[in-house]
Amino acid sequence: MARMVIAVSGTPGTGKSIFARALAKKLGAQVIDLNALIKKKRIYRLDVDGTKIANLPKMRKEFVRAIQSSHGPVIVEGLLAHLIPKRYLTHVVVLRTRPRILERRLRARKYSKTKTRENVEAEALDIILWEAVKIHGMNRVYEIDTTKLKPSSAVKLFLDALAGKIPLKPGKVNWLEEYYKK
Ligand SMILES: Nc1ncnc2c1ncn2[C@@H]1O[C@H](COP(=O)(O)OP(=O)(O)O)[C@@H](O)[C@H]1O
Ligand SMILES: [Mg+2]
Repeated sequence: MARMVIAVSGTPGTGKSIFARALAKKLGAQVIDLNALIKKKRIYRLDVDGTKIANLPKMRKEFVRAIQSSHGPVIVEGLLAHLIPKRYLTHVVVLRTRPRILERRLRARKYSKTKTRENVEAEALDIILWEAVKIHGMNRVYEIDTTKLKPSSAVKLFLDALAGKIPLKPGKVNWLEEYYKK
């Protein structure tokens, strides 16, 4: 079988970093933290509000360089992980969180009101899931709602899906009605 290279993406606060670490332990995989890579290689510019905007072509190049110099399964995590081209990834996990709960997590992280709202709206609109499916197709994308799941349970679900025991097809989650009801 080809080497597993699993992307873990999702809106900030959906639990990517925790999930990636727990999954890596189970698979004996190496974790590539895309945010750290972007910082270390200084391949970003700063937005007016201080947000780092990654240079995507350079990010892809650095990622490829990183996997070419390593062996064994790889997990690449970060909110841009699904933007790595299809030929390099075997699986794409998109983590989801109910907007109201996500809002709490982001406020707890001291995100500004504006940043929090931007991210919560992106989550309500399925932005990352939609991009992931557009690039990688339905069959490679696994959607997991972590709202009520411990990280270890989310990992268990994904391992069950890898083993073909359960489907985790995109499209189960729908936050729209709840989010725009207010
Ligand atoms: N499955 C989960 N259930 C409840 N809280 C979670 C879960 N996963 C992550 N969290 C919490 O949400 C916050 C964001 O988690 P983190 O892994 O840093 O997210 P991300 O890397 O996607 O930004 C942390 O405070 C973490 O403790
Ligand atoms: Mg993180």
